[in-house]
Amino acid sequence: MNKKKIIEKTKEYVKQEMLKGDSGHDWSHVLRVNNTAKMIAKKEKADLFIVELSTLFHDIADSKFTNGDETIAPRKIKDFLNSLKVDTETIEKVNYIVEHMSFKKNQPTEKSLEFKVVQDADRLDAIGAIGIARAFSFGGYKNRLMYNPEEKPNLNQTKEQYVKAEGTTINHFYEKLLLLKDLMNTETAKAIAEKRHKFMEKYLDQFYKEWNGKA
Ligand code: ADP
Ligand code: NI
Repeated sequence: MNKKKIIEKTKEYVKQEMLKGDSGHDWSHVLRVNNTAKMIAKKEKADLFIVELSTLFHDIADSKFTNGDETIAPRKIKDFLNSLKVDTETIEKVNYIVEHMSFKKNQPTEKSLEFKVVQDADRLDAIGAIGIARAFSFGGYKNRLMYNPEEKPNLNQTKEQYVKAEGTTINHFYEKLLLLKDLMNTETAKAIAEKRHKFMEKYLDQFYKEWNGKA
């Protein structure tokens, strides 16, 4: 099977799998990350096939929705790609990227260019206008308050606290979203992140003004 066909088949499979998720972690997120990653990969001259497969699989069987079971995703990826006769080296590369992507995972010391591109694309989707929408959508799903002026952000969260996500959605901006621009790997993503970051700052400014009846 050629690469194009493999990507097509993977899209169909992941789409079905993602229909089970919440609104911030859905198929449209995967498609956006896939498109952004392709754009970055071309500019940074990364391997498009590895990048595409990794973005398509990156949120499959997310441990937030599987009671913390982190073995389901790598197994699904391996079984599916094996069934399409994808070579073992490619499967290993994709699985490595998917496993190490998350914000709270210990970061690998050696990141391949493909890893950097996929991680940047996923992080870009967590900031800017879409990032804001996703954060409030996730907050609603978890029944979190939008904002509580008495509750300060917790900048030293443990993995357990982060996964529990008990804070307000506005605090999530300080605990994660506003930190992402400085974590971008590639120059291409840094430039995009800069713009999206400024937009979030403007948004927060207006949010507080309206909250206090000053706008
Ligand atoms: P990652 O895949 O990088 O680990 P997550 O799965 O933690 O990202 O988050 C998925 C989406 O939900 C992101 O847009 C993120 O900003 C949002 N999100 C995660 N935790 C919270 C939270 N506590 N409050 C609001 N939004 C959240
Ligand atoms: Ni994602």
